[in-house]
Formats: sequence, C-alpha cells, structure tokens
Amino acid sequence: MTTVAEFANLLHKTMGLSADTVGLSFIESAVKTRVSACKSKDLQDYWEHVHACDGELQELIDEVIVPETWFFRDREAFAAMAHEAYNKWLPAHPDGQLRLLSLPCATGEEPYSMAMALLAAGFPGSRFRIDAIDISVRMLKRAGEAVYGRNSFRGKNLEFRDRFFEPVGSEFRLADAVRRQVHFHHGNLLDPRFAPDTTAYDFIFCRNVLIYFDRATQDRAVHVLTRLLKADAFLFVGPSESGLMLNHDFVSEKLALAFAFRKKAHASLDLDTGAARLPKPRRATVRGVPGPAAKPVAKRVVRSRPVATIAQAAGTQTGLDEIFGFANQGRLSEALQRCEEFLRTRGPSVQAYHLMGLVHDATGMHQEAEQYYRKALYLDPGHHEALVHLAFLLEKQGDAAGAQRLHRRAKRVNTGGGA
Ligand SMILES: C[S@@+](CC[C@H](N)C(=O)[O-])C[C@H]1O[C@@H](n2cnc3c(N)ncnc32)[C@H](O)[C@@H]1O
Repeated sequence: MTTVAEFANLLHKTMGLSADTVGLSFIESAVKTRVSACKSKDLQDYWEHVHACDGELQELIDEVIVPETWFFRDREAFAAMAHEAYNKWLPAHPDGQLRLLSLPCATGEEPYSMAMALLAAGFPGSRFRIDAIDISVRMLKRAGEAVYGRNSFRGKNLEFRDRFFEPVGSEFRLADAVRRQVHFHHGNLLDPRFAPDTTAYDFIFCRNVLIYFDRATQDRAVHVLTRLLKADAFLFVGPSESGLMLNHDFVSEKLALAFAFRKKAHASLDLDTGAARLPKPRRATVRGVPGPAAKPVAKRVVRSRPVATIAQAAGTQTGLDEIFGFANQGRLSEALQRCEEFLRTRGPSVQAYHLMGLVHDATGMHQEAEQYYRKALYLDPGHHEALVHLAFLLEKQGDAAGAQRLHRRAKRVNTGGGA
C-alpha cells in the first residue's frame, strides 16, 4: 500500500523538497487535495495516476510549493543590486546587456522589483534583461498577468506602487515598461538538464527556496548557481540562507541585510582585516522606490538624519538611525553593541530587538536570533517582518508546524486581521 512517505520521497527526488522542513502533514494535505481532484480511490490509485498521467506530477508540485513572496522583500538586496549595477557595471560596460536572474521567481514580485529598482536608478531598460524561473506553472501564469492584490505590497514604503502600477478594482496592474524587462520560464533548479547552455549572469537572486532543501540538495543547488554566475557576479540569498553560502566557495559582501555573496576569488571584502566594502557614493535620483538611496551608504552614518533603506524596512525609531547605519555597512558587532546600549538606556524597543534578530540570523547564530525575534514579537505581536523572519528560522530548525503558525499570523497581520 502506498504511503505519504513515498510521495514525500518522490517530491524530494523531483524538486528537492525536504519533508523535514515542511512536515509530512503538509505534504499529506497536498496529496489529499490531488487525490480528490483526480477522483482517485486512495493513495495507491493516485500513485499509479501520477506515474501514468502526463502533467499530474506537475499538478502535485504546484499544490505543494510555498509561494510566499512580496514586492521589495528584504529590500536592502534590491538597493545593493541597483547600486552595483548603476555605479560599477554600467560605467565599465559601454555596450552589452546586464543579465539578471530571479530563481525562483514565484508570482513575479521579486524579478519585477529588480526591474523597478534598476529603472528607478536610471538604468536604461535596453541595457538589462531579467530571466525569471520557477517550477510552478500556476505561479508563472500569475506572474505573467502582473496583477497584484494587497498581500504583495507589504510594509509602509509603498511609493513605488503609485509610480509603477495602476489600480484595477481592488488590485494593481504593473506598467508595461516594467513587465517587458522580465522574461519568465518554467524550470526546475534540480533538474540535471536545467539551463545547460545559458550564458552566465551578473546578478542572481536565489532567495527563500534553499531553506526547503536538505543539506545534500542545498549543495547541489549551490553547484548549479555557481555554474550560472559569472566570475565576478553577485548572488543574493534569503536571510536564513546566508550561513549556507559560507560553507561553499562564497564570501559575504558584507552589505548588511542584503545577504549578498560573491565567488571567493572575486569578493571585494578585505579578508585580512574583515573590513566591509562600502558602496561608492552615487547621486541618481530614486524617487518613490525603495531601491538604492540617493545618498551613499557611507555618508548615511555621519548624517544627522540619514536616508537608510534598512531603517525604512525595519521601521526606524529616533536614536536608532545611526545603529542601522552601522548594520548597513556590515559593522555588525558595533551595531549589536549599540543596540544593547540603546536598550539599557532607553528601555525595550521592537526595532532594536528585530535588528538584533536579523544580525544574529545573518551571522548564523540562530538560537540568539530566535530569542530576539520573540522579544520583538512580545512587544509587538503584529510585527510582520519579525513574524516572517522567525517563521523561516523555525523552518530551518525543523519546526515546520511552528513556522506555519507564524506564517499564518503574518498573513493575518498583512490583511488587516491582527496577529
Ligand atoms: C517562497 S517562494 C520564494 C520566491 C522569491 N524568491 C522570494 O524570495 O520572495 C519559493 C518558490 O520556490 C519555487 N521552487 C521550489 N522548488 C523549486 C525548484 N526545485 N526549482 C525551481 N523553483 C522551485 C516554488 O515554486 C516557489 O514559487
């Protein structure tokens, strides 16, 4: 008699999903949905159907994926990418096209955010191309339609929506100028035939998928990404995935909270001193988009009222701006020290605890990160970012049920239902 564990094995083999991260009950529920959609008698009957019917395995994959995404998620990554592209790549390449990849792209919010960040920075549309790949046919269809509801717009900084979208009923349609920059493809990162002849990329965003893989599968995925990256290219991963990259031939670019890496030989980090590389100042106007700020990161630290994208993302509190400036520069231990001081002198602060969670998360200190996220949530049970980051942390630690509860809470907060 076929068991749910056999379906879990099939999904693991096909798409890398680890039952340990999402929980067997999550897989069971997806299988049951398909059993009833196909009017199969039982698991055995459905097992035969999956193997006999073209397209049914894809339906099961579509049922089991976690498509959670939103525009400018972990926005510092988009700021860092657009900054590098505009200030370094463009002057060094008078011809040719910048090549970017979003893998996986889910419903398109990530690659479209990349396009918006570049266009807003003044990067000509004709000079860049974004490929966006996902294993889910359903998600890709929605990405192509480019019409989004409230759930795709999170956080307070939504000026980009006024600039690049038009309202259609209660939803928002993305402008053609952004849509045409992104080319969607169906693909499985773990398929041995995946993108064999593709020319390599200058920037790859591979965020929030590696957490669903076990260690061996993560290694396979990183191997594929290494092949797809140009020698001096940037790889952006999710907050809970940065520890993994350090176990491979990658070095953090120390652009705090951007989770950016480069292949070891090409990283611009000063390995002897551990000093962070600071982006060069730039003056491109980026009105209405939470991308690279008009002021340089280096200058933000000394300004009395800095324009800090991390600060915006985390929700700044007077007195914390400078601390976010340290974090922005990759001066993480200083940021932590100053947070502690801040808490001692000013009392409990949601933003300080959240930042301390992020910094510990980024440096692989997961237990500490969990404690700080929980402290932030104790003070503000509806703090969306803390809910989402803690959910990913729990998933990574194998607590799929706890993670799902937090994701549900985050979703309720986002739809105005409260925590
Ligand atoms: C949580 S979303 C991440 C989307 C986006 N990168 C972000 O960070 O917001 C995970 C996506 O990974 C896709 N996925 C899962 N396994 C995959 C695989 N083996 N190859 C390609 N895409 C995969 C799913 O279909 C889903 O859309």
